[in-house]
Amino acid sequence: MKDIKEPLSNRKRADLYYELLAGGAKTKLLESIINFNLPELLSSKGEILESDLTKELELHPLRAKKWYFLLTREGFLRRKKTDLGYVYCLGPVTKQLMGKNNDQWWFFKQMTYSWQTIAYESLYSILRGATVNSDIHWPPKNDIESIAIEEWMTRTSVAPISTIESAINLNKVKHLLDIGGGEGTMACDFAKKYPHLKVTLYNLPVAIKLARKNIKLAGLDDRVKMVEGDFFKDRTFPAGCDLILFSRVLCDWSSETAERLLKMAYEALSPGGQVAICEAFQENNKDFSTAWEFRYLFWDEFETEVFKSSLTYKKILTDIGYKLTSLSKLTDDSTYTVLTAQKKKQIPIIQNIIRKWIGWKYERMQEIGY
Ligand SMILES: C[S@@+](CC[C@H](N)C(=O)[O-])C[C@H]1O[C@@H](n2cnc3c(N)ncnc32)[C@H](O)[C@@H]1O
Repeated sequence: MKDIKEPLSNRKRADLYYELLAGGAKTKLLESIINFNLPELLSSKGEILESDLTKELELHPLRAKKWYFLLTREGFLRRKKTDLGYVYCLGPVTKQLMGKNNDQWWFFKQMTYSWQTIAYESLYSILRGATVNSDIHWPPKNDIESIAIEEWMTRTSVAPISTIESAINLNKVKHLLDIGGGEGTMACDFAKKYPHLKVTLYNLPVAIKLARKNIKLAGLDDRVKMVEGDFFKDRTFPAGCDLILFSRVLCDWSSETAERLLKMAYEALSPGGQVAICEAFQENNKDFSTAWEFRYLFWDEFETEVFKSSLTYKKILTDIGYKLTSLSKLTDDSTYTVLTAQKKKQIPIIQNIIRKWIGWKYERMQEIGY
């Protein structure tokens, strides 16, 4: 939320209004370059004359001129004046979005397509109960939906994997339980890099089907085990692991659901074991969460306020009885951070007996009025 000191001057009020409206305009410009594959076209051509571009994209010449102007002003294109007219090449914003990481640019495009499937529905009507014209389910219900979401996850897994590795010393972990662990991408990656590590992957049957193939292909069947489960139906997670990971899982659900899952993790962990939450915490990712939560407005299977702050998780974890152990620093490599907490170690039996004896003794002394 913007921190606005009241009252604003007329000029600042107008600025505020136009900033909001321009946000929508910029979104549409971004969508349009993606829909026309303009970044790929300009990457392959380097530069292109305005008249050639208009012809190649089969555009209305006057509207195209207005579009080029705006794209240039917003940094999507760069233009040069020549004797033959304007020549266009990639602008700084498009170059940055494309970056060097193909998977990230691929993901930005996928997210934009997903956004487009709903963004032009009437929010007014939807809020009054109109049907949303989308038949995609969350969580995925069939193979096609599961393949689509898991491809998103796999192609964006480099950042969370490296964030988790920097936050947790996996050399010291014996058995990792990866809840909602996609198609086994992280499980296989960690198992390959840490040969002592056993991993159990817990996911819905549709995702486990994909994971089974990947784990076999990686030759890791002996160390990466799979458990088909649905954390809305199951009351317990597989027990006895010393690290339970929720990577980009709890941010799909409300605080109430997250609390229930973290309690299940607490019960399943060995004493002294850790839980790790890796996701885009709200405090560092405001625009990110606004964009996603807007998307979810058109998707009734999503709960409310799914992107939570690390503070919210800290409270949930300590209320359950965990001891907070670390919150990783946000780096330039990733939008994700990792919060870890430990299940308290069991008191050794002998200490427990002494405690009980002292308690009993104290009660007896009170009874005899000592
Ligand atoms: C956003 S993906 C995260 C995948 C992976 N952890 C990662 O970070 O790449 C969420 C995962 O949660 C799983 N999931 C969703 N609902 C579930 C449920 N009710 N029980 C078990 N897993 C579930 C999905 O199948 C999917 O693999």
